[in-house]
Amino acid sequence: MCGIFGYLGNKNSLQACLKGLKQLEYRGYDSAGIAGLKGGKLYFTKKAGKISVLEEKISLQNLQLDLAIGHTRWATHGKADDENAHPHFDDAESIALVHNGIVENYTFLKEMLQKKGFIFRSETDTEVIVQLIAYYYQKNPKLNQAVRKALKEIKGQFAIALIHKDFPDQIIAATRESPLAIGYSDDRSEVLISSDPNAFLDEKLHILFLQTDEIAIVKKDRVKVFDKWFHPIVKATELLDSGFEPATKGEFEHFMLKEIYEQPLTIQKTLLGRYSEEFGTAELEHLFFSSGELQSVQHVVILACGTSWHAGCLASLMLEDMARIPTHAEIASEMRYKNPIISKDTLVIAISQSGETADTIAAVREAKSKGAKILGICNVNNSTLARESDSCLFLKAGPEISVCSTKAFTSQIALLSLFTLFMARLRHLDKEGGLHFLNELKKIPRLVRNVLDNAPQIEKIAKKYSHFPHFFFLGRRYMYVTSQEAALKLKEISYLNASAYPAGELKHGPIALISPHLPVVAFCANKQTYDKTLNNLMEVKARGAPIITFAPHGALEIERIADDIIWLPATIDELATFPSSVAGQLFAYYIAKERGTDIDHPRNLAKSVTVE
Ligand code: F6R
Repeated sequence: MCGIFGYLGNKNSLQACLKGLKQLEYRGYDSAGIAGLKGGKLYFTKKAGKISVLEEKISLQNLQLDLAIGHTRWATHGKADDENAHPHFDDAESIALVHNGIVENYTFLKEMLQKKGFIFRSETDTEVIVQLIAYYYQKNPKLNQAVRKALKEIKGQFAIALIHKDFPDQIIAATRESPLAIGYSDDRSEVLISSDPNAFLDEKLHILFLQTDEIAIVKKDRVKVFDKWFHPIVKATELLDSGFEPATKGEFEHFMLKEIYEQPLTIQKTLLGRYSEEFGTAELEHLFFSSGELQSVQHVVILACGTSWHAGCLASLMLEDMARIPTHAEIASEMRYKNPIISKDTLVIAISQSGETADTIAAVREAKSKGAKILGICNVNNSTLARESDSCLFLKAGPEISVCSTKAFTSQIALLSLFTLFMARLRHLDKEGGLHFLNELKKIPRLVRNVLDNAPQIEKIAKKYSHFPHFFFLGRRYMYVTSQEAALKLKEISYLNASAYPAGELKHGPIALISPHLPVVAFCANKQTYDKTLNNLMEVKARGAPIITFAPHGALEIERIADDIIWLPATIDELATFPSSVAGQLFAYYIAKERGTDIDHPRNLAKSVTVE
C-alpha cells in the first residue's frame, strides 16, 4: 500500500506534494512525510497520523522547496510512529527515499549493511533500500548506477522515489510490479510523480507509466526512462485531462453515508445504456470478446479480494444458475499459489474497485501467463487492472472515497448481473426470460431508494444492539454471500467480531456459540431457501439468542421468530442482495456511529491494498 508523490516545477513543491498526498491518503493513513531540496540542502518533516497532522507541522516551518517527494503510509514493517514514517535516509542524510511495497530480503540486506557499519534508525524494510543505494554510491559516486545496483539486490515489489542533495534538480523514480505514473505538462514547466494518476487532480498532463524494473530520471524539462540494463527507452504517453472535482461530503456526516445514499443513482449509471429491451439482453461496450469466443467458454474463474470477492461469489451463483457455466470465485491471494487449471476455454474475470489491489493484479498476471483472457470489472479508469485486462467494463459509480466499499459493491453486482444476462442469452435463456430478468434489474434503483427511506428504523435497531461485542450472521445461497458482506462491513467499521455462516452449517459446529449474549443477524430474502432458513432460526431461538432479520415485506412467519425485523422490498432471488446489502450497510454504519469509530478511515485499513 502507501502512496508516493513527487513534484518538480514552478509551483510551490511542498503545497503541490501535500495536495497530491491528500488524494493518495486512501492508500494508507498511519503516518506521512515530505522531503525536499532547497539550495542544495535537504529538508524533511514526517509525522505519525493523517496528512492533516503533517500539514499542521509543516505550515509551522513554512518550507519553500525547489522539489519534493512525499509519502502516506500503511504500516507493514514497524509500527506507525514518527521514526518509521517515510521518507527514510542514508546515514549521512544526503538521500531521501519514499517507498510503496515490501522488500522481502530486508533482514539479510540489513544485517549485511550493519556489518559494514551502517546505522539503522527505523524498523522499516524501506531504510534498507536507501542505505544500500548509499553503500553503492560510496563505492562509486554515480547515483544512477548506485540505484540500479541496489534495486537489483532487492527481492520483492516496490515503487520508489528518491532525491539526493548533490542533485538538486532531479527525482529518481523506479518500480517493480507496483504502479507508478509520471506526468508532465505541455510546456514542461512541471513534472509530477504518483502511485496513482488520479492524484494528478485538475492537471492536464502527458502521462507515462513505469513498467517493472524501469528507472526514470525526472528533471523539470525532461523525463528519461531506462530499462533494467540501463538502456534508454522511449515510453508512450497518454494525455490525461482529469477534469477532477474534489469529492465532498456535502450534507452527510461521512463519505460512507453519502456513498450509501448515492446508490440508487450509481446503480442506475452502471445499468444505463447497457441493455436492449428489444432483445432482452445486455449490451456491454468495451466487451472485446466475440460472441463466438464467449459461447465457447466452458469455465469461468473469478478473481478478487474482500468486498469485490463477495461480488464475485454472487456472480458465480448467477452464472451457474442462469447461464449454466461452471464458475468459481477465488480469493486472489489464494489463487496464485494453487496452480489453477486454466485452459483456452476458461474466462477469467477480475473484479476490483480500485484496479490496484496487489493480490488481484498478481493473480491476473498468473492467469495471463497461463494464456487466460482477462475480463476486468473496475471502477477506476487508468488503473493497473484496466490497463492489463483484455477487456475492461467500468462501474461508472464515481470515486469511492470511504475506505469501506458500498456503492462500488452494488455497481459491481449490477454490472455482473448484466454480464450474466448477456452470457445466459448467448446460451440457454430465451428472450422472455431475459426480459423478465432485465425488468427486475431495472427496478433495483427504486427498491434501494425504499430501503434508504427506512433508514430511521434501521438506525433504531442498530443502536439497540450496538453494545454487543460479537455478532453471528446467517443466510443461505445468495443470502449467505450477502450475510458475509454485511458481516465484513460491521467488522471493518465498528471493530466488532462478526462471523458469517451458511445457515445450514450451524448444526455442524457453530451452534455451540449460540447464547443470549450473541445476536444472530439473518438474511432471509431468498424464496428458494426461506423455509429452511426459518427452521435454522427456530434452532437459534430455542437457545435464547436475540434475532435480527432482514426480510422481504410479506414474510410474516418471521414475526413469530425475530426480535427485530428490518423490512425490505421484495425482488427475485438473484437480485435480493441489492436491498439486503444496502440495509446491511446502514446497520453497520449506525452501529459504528454509535460506537464512535473513525468510519471513513477505520483503523489499520487503506482503500487500496497495494501489497501482497
Ligand atoms: C471492504 C473493502 C475491501 C475491498 C478489497 C478489494 O469494504 O473495501 O474488502 O473490497 O480490499 O479492493 P478492490 O475492490 O479495490 O480490489
